[in-house]
Amino acid sequence: MTDYISEYKKKTKGSAKLFVKSLKLHVNGVSHNIRFYEPYPFVVKKSSGKNLFDVDDNKYTDYWMGHWSLILGHGPKKIKESLKKQIEKSWMYGTVNEQTILLSELIAKAVPVAEKIRYVTSGTEATMYAVRLARSVTRKKIIAKIDGGWHGYTSDLLKSVNWPFTESESSGVVNEEQIVSIPYNDLEKSLLILEKHSKDLAGVIIEPVLGGGGCIPADVDYLKGIQEFCHKNNSLFILDEIVTGFRFRYGCIYPTMKLDPDIVTLGKIVGGGMAIGVMCGKKEIMEHSNTKGKKKSERSYVGGGTFSANPTSMTSGFATLSVLKNNKSVYSKIDDLGQYARKELNKIFDGQVIVTGKGSLFMTHFVKDGISQIRNSADAAKCDIDRLQKYHFKLISHDGIFFLPGKLGAISDAHSKEDVKKMITASENFS
Ligand SMILES: Cc1ncc(COP(=O)(O)O)c(C=O)c1O
Repeated sequence: MTDYISEYKKKTKGSAKLFVKSLKLHVNGVSHNIRFYEPYPFVVKKSSGKNLFDVDDNKYTDYWMGHWSLILGHGPKKIKESLKKQIEKSWMYGTVNEQTILLSELIAKAVPVAEKIRYVTSGTEATMYAVRLARSVTRKKIIAKIDGGWHGYTSDLLKSVNWPFTESESSGVVNEEQIVSIPYNDLEKSLLILEKHSKDLAGVIIEPVLGGGGCIPADVDYLKGIQEFCHKNNSLFILDEIVTGFRFRYGCIYPTMKLDPDIVTLGKIVGGGMAIGVMCGKKEIMEHSNTKGKKKSERSYVGGGTFSANPTSMTSGFATLSVLKNNKSVYSKIDDLGQYARKELNKIFDGQVIVTGKGSLFMTHFVKDGISQIRNSADAAKCDIDRLQKYHFKLISHDGIFFLPGKLGAISDAHSKEDVKKMITASENFS
């Protein structure tokens, strides 16, 4: 059997050296835990189109695509040109700027619930504020989230992320009892749990396609059932579309499901690869955070941040959404490639895997212990995660194809059918 670790070490000597330095300077050598993998991650020096290049000049076809934020690929020409123009003007104002208004006009038109918008610089902040706003509007405390749901490291939502969902995710998190957790795609069980907390339930936050939790689409009826419960009980229905927003269509996915969320969070794609988080929602709810004429006890503090609505993020977001708006065929192209990837991976791994996902997102789960379907994070966690990581590492070390080990893949407009075919062929040789 090929020794992929030796193969990797041989071709990434420069990365190995640099990572020793990185380990001295940074905790575990990284600034986002998931970016570390054994024996060490390669160190990137540049990226372009579908490719990442490491410091040893190895080229990788990238399916991680900047935490799935780069729907147009790395450094697309139009975004680069817009950013260059903006950089000429300058890159940080710390004031109201026109670029923000331009981006908001696009978002408000494409996302019906975005009657009012606030920008921050990460998805984590957006979900943190969404939770605070829900608590403030409803005057209730409990937030329900999904088992396996990932909304960033905010203390307000750092619970039941990893299977078996019973252990505390981190020390230092207070008031964990105010976060309750419900099983994805199981309406009956979810409602039983929500019912127990209905009097003090400020809101439920859900991703319409579970991203970090296994790339699993929600049943529309499940989401509708949760929404109905929220609206009956004066709790807010919060959709986290940080991964799904502008990923499958120009806009959010929720209108296609005929949902009526109160708050929607966005990020990733809407920043075009620059730092962003967006909170948007119904006017009367968002206005609750208006500081004008309200006592502190009557409103919620939402927003802030030195770099919120900075002109570079706003410019790359505006340029990206403009390209998508004028080229909606991007979606049919990447969706077709995603469907092709899922079908072919299922075929070649013949019964060994279930490939989940939707549109241009896909994830290969190596089944074990009789798992026959993946409907939630528990099903995904019971699969052979070690084997998935070995499979991804084989692609990195042997085939020049990059998935962040263990994570879902995202196809961008920079990928071609040829690329996906190469990935399938490379997968055929994994055993
Ligand atoms: C659904 C979802 N919400 C929130 C976040 C947090 O966003 P960020 O990493 O920009 O803080 C993520 C990040 O992957 C996510 O997938």
